[in-house]
Amino acid sequence: MDTSFVERRPDGRTKTLDTRQYTLGYSEGEFKRLQLQGDFVRDLTEDVLRRAGLKQGMHVLDLGCGVGDVSLLAGQLVGPSGSVLGIDRSQDAVEAAERRAVEAGQCYWVRFASADLASFVPERKFDAIIGRLVLMYLREPAETLRRLAGFLRPGGIVAFQEMSMPFARSVPTTPLFTQVLGWIVRAFARTGFETDMGGKLFSTYLAAGLPVPQMISGARVEGGGESLGFEYIAQTVRSLIPAMERTGITTAAEIGIDDLADRLREEAVAHGACIMFPPMTGAWICSQQ
Ligand SMILES: C[S@@+](CC[C@H](N)C(=O)[O-])C[C@H]1O[C@@H](n2cnc3c(N)ncnc32)[C@H](O)[C@@H]1O
Repeated sequence: MDTSFVERRPDGRTKTLDTRQYTLGYSEGEFKRLQLQGDFVRDLTEDVLRRAGLKQGMHVLDLGCGVGDVSLLAGQLVGPSGSVLGIDRSQDAVEAAERRAVEAGQCYWVRFASADLASFVPERKFDAIIGRLVLMYLREPAETLRRLAGFLRPGGIVAFQEMSMPFARSVPTTPLFTQVLGWIVRAFARTGFETDMGGKLFSTYLAAGLPVPQMISGARVEGGGESLGFEYIAQTVRSLIPAMERTGITTAAEIGIDDLADRLREEAVAHGACIMFPPMTGAWICSQQ
């Protein structure tokens, strides 16, 4: 499989990059960041899953489960009479997710397996296929959705939630936040991943041969010195430092990761600014439609 893509720079130069490198990596720090992110957007995801009709007794497939945040949330909604299978290509992430399912007392009905979604073949049919922040990483998201929707029972649920990164903003605009957001968006774009998958969900469902989905968009909006949002931004940058350096966006020295969260917080407080985090767009089809 060809995993390269050609990046066209603003000055017209081109560079061939290898997209096999997952932008955020699989460090312990990244696993912690995923949990912080999971807590941060949990309500938004639960809202989408409930609207989609996830309920007790359903059997659910969670694509790109990471360390299990969405699987465990779905596990609460379906309960022990249902089941959740979370799939991720990272064996380390799957093992971390398994440990968390044990800690959450859900390990009897929330299970995990390591596989690449491009080739994963389920052994059963599901009532729902779900995922968060995963389609943006797939080379052919519509094709993967179309293929895996073949493992859905008739009238089952397909529910995904994805981000629109470039639409995050600080109000009023502040220089450090603007710079950091630019670094983040460019890191994903230059490593070949979709930064506005939220905006592409509708067309992806149609291209996958699915019916017109219902959709909703929501975002965290945070201000004040107590917000965990600054830590979330800094941890995201921390995971992205290798990708940022590899693609020539910035350097660890320029980023100054150790006090980045504090500097973002101080800037926001000094300007009386709130951060409007990237909209999280949910799309779902379900048998009630
Ligand atoms: C940003 S994380 C999101 C994890 C989880 N869905 C959540 O919201 O907490 C994206 C996950 O998708 C997984 N992933 C990306 N492409 C994949 C593929 N082709 N097959 C399996 N997993 C994949 C990555 O390994 C990573 O764990």
